[in-house]
Amino acid sequence: MIRDEEILNRVDKEKLPRHVAIIMDGNGRWASYRGLLRSAGHSAGMKTLKKILTVAVNLNLEALTVYAFSTENWKRPHAEVDFLLKLFSEYLEKEKLEMHEKNVRLRFLGRVEEFSAGIQNQIREATQLMKNNTGVKFNIAANYGGQDEILRAAQKLAQDVATGKISPAQITASTFEDALDTCGLPPVDLLIRTSGDIRISNFLLWQSAYAELFFTNTQWPEFSPEEFVDALIDFSHRERKFGGVKS
Ligand code: IPE
Ligand code: IPE
Ligand code: MG
Repeated sequence: MIRDEEILNRVDKEKLPRHVAIIMDGNGRWASYRGLLRSAGHSAGMKTLKKILTVAVNLNLEALTVYAFSTENWKRPHAEVDFLLKLFSEYLEKEKLEMHEKNVRLRFLGRVEEFSAGIQNQIREATQLMKNNTGVKFNIAANYGGQDEILRAAQKLAQDVATGKISPAQITASTFEDALDTCGLPPVDLLIRTSGDIRISNFLLWQSAYAELFFTNTQWPEFSPEEFVDALIDFSHRERKFGGVKS
């Protein structure tokens, strides 16, 4: 516990990002380097997620969004997809009360309606349970793709124009953001990707327009609270200009 506090005290609380997004990559590589099945990497990755959420809670971050399953991840072998969905369901069952006690506000981004009825029920129950919580906004992107989200928002707004609810001129950055899955969340300030690949892989494309990027070679199962705090400290030293000039 003392060690945890020491880690947290390294961060300047005034300079924290409001919204941190994480591409939790490298579970498969972590496992295969150890001669284990990819599934063992996914199980280990779940433990990392719990630790990182705890840091977010202790620092009282405004929002943490994690990429759990992309719209492209259905291309993986059936057995891996099934395992991931099972793990996902176990995680929700096991963690929901503790998340609730920690005042976490859970939300899902993506096409959750394509999951089985059982998982959809679990998602509904867990989000319902935490809907009035006021702590960290914890968003799990599951069956999520940035392009898919933008297309769904465009379709919704086009529908509103077709029915006369709004005029085309009323499609602004603000109304467009309201039509995204992330409605009400601040833009991403810091985007972290583990495991060495330097790409975005269709995550939060609109929301990361001015995000600071942090890439690390560490595989997700080994990503520690210390390294998470390192990323936050790194962020606190970045000079953000948003297209303007140095202030
Ligand atoms: C990330 O780890 C987890 C998911 C995509 C669900 P990967 O499974 O992509 O691990 P690598 O990239 O193959 O090592
Ligand atoms: C991104 O990782 C998706 C998640 C972490 C859930 P991938 O492993 O699917 O991305 P690519 O295939 O390396 O771009
Ligand atoms: Mg990967």
